[in-house]
Amino acid sequence: MESKNILEIRKLKKNYKEIKAVKNVNLDVEKGDIFGFLGPNGAGKTTTIRMILGLVHPDQGEIRIKGYDIKKDYKKALQYMGAMVETPKFYDYLSGYQNLKLVANLYKNVKHIDINKSLKKVGLKNRGKNKVETYSVGMKQRLGLARALLNEPELVILDEPTSGLDPQGKKEIRELIQQLAINQGITFFICTHLLNEVEQICNKVAILQDGEIISNRFIKEKENKKWVEFYTKQKNEAELMLKDYNGISDLNISKNGIQIFTFEKEIEKINYQLNNRGIKVQYIIPYVESLEEYYLKETGGHFDVI
Ligand SMILES: Nc1ncnc2c1ncn2[C@@H]1O[C@H](COP(=O)(O)OP(=O)(O)OP(=O)(O)O)[C@@H](O)[C@H]1O
Ligand SMILES: [Mg+2]
Repeated sequence: MESKNILEIRKLKKNYKEIKAVKNVNLDVEKGDIFGFLGPNGAGKTTTIRMILGLVHPDQGEIRIKGYDIKKDYKKALQYMGAMVETPKFYDYLSGYQNLKLVANLYKNVKHIDINKSLKKVGLKNRGKNKVETYSVGMKQRLGLARALLNEPELVILDEPTSGLDPQGKKEIRELIQQLAINQGITFFICTHLLNEVEQICNKVAILQDGEIISNRFIKEKENKKWVEFYTKQKNEAELMLKDYNGISDLNISKNGIQIFTFEKEIEKINYQLNNRGIKVQYIIPYVESLEEYYLKETGGHFDVI
């Protein structure tokens, strides 16, 4: 049953009467990814997330968490997931700890110690006894994250995790996500409108527009990979040749040739291979595009964010 993809979505579809909220979503999130899920207002992001969490039933398609189909093995799938959807709600008159306890009671295996562990992970250990009404917005958001971590999930789904926070609060949450990804090995699937946020912490992004994924690519990787552009007129031949090249994680045809996401040490070898097959390369240049430029290009200038 194990799969290298912790989350797999295939041909997902959801209509609300005549509104086609999600038309056809296909996605793979690998273990260790911090995956950014972008798209204009109304694109279908929250609907997709609700379907992943089993809160909304898809009309069609499949969602698998660690290989478990959420339709057939909902409980198993759920066990690996934690989530925070938009601004988390709490009982203000209860403490942070008590709020988590209420949720922990719903899980079979979550104990006192796990609640404290969760509070510690988000830096709220010392405030756990205080009532939530005394918390700042940022602390409530962190408590939401603590709640999502209670069952020690491998995949955490976040819908707008920094909404309503000031710049400092946003930074804190971003750093917390990175820490949890590195130290606890948690995979994140994050829906946000903040491109700088995605640029800073995500390694992959997918853009959803009108219920369909219009673009899906690496933006960075822990290893020393980068985008380079090979200027060539023989774009299609180059693509055909490099499509299955082992050291390439991602590849796009561009205006001037072909863009490749690869290790620095592969660049020379790739060039050699291209030349060997009679594909002429005029230039090789590092390809740097801000996420904003990329997003605008892909969505056709539709930019209603921030
Ligand atoms: N419960 C619902 N009933 C009817 N229509 C809905 C419902 N939920 C979402 N929709 C519609 O589905 C479409 C997608 O909405 P969704 O909330 O998934 O978008 P989104 O990408 O999360 O947008 P935003 O960035 O504004 O949060 C919209 O047209 C919305 O009006
Ligand atoms: Mg939404």
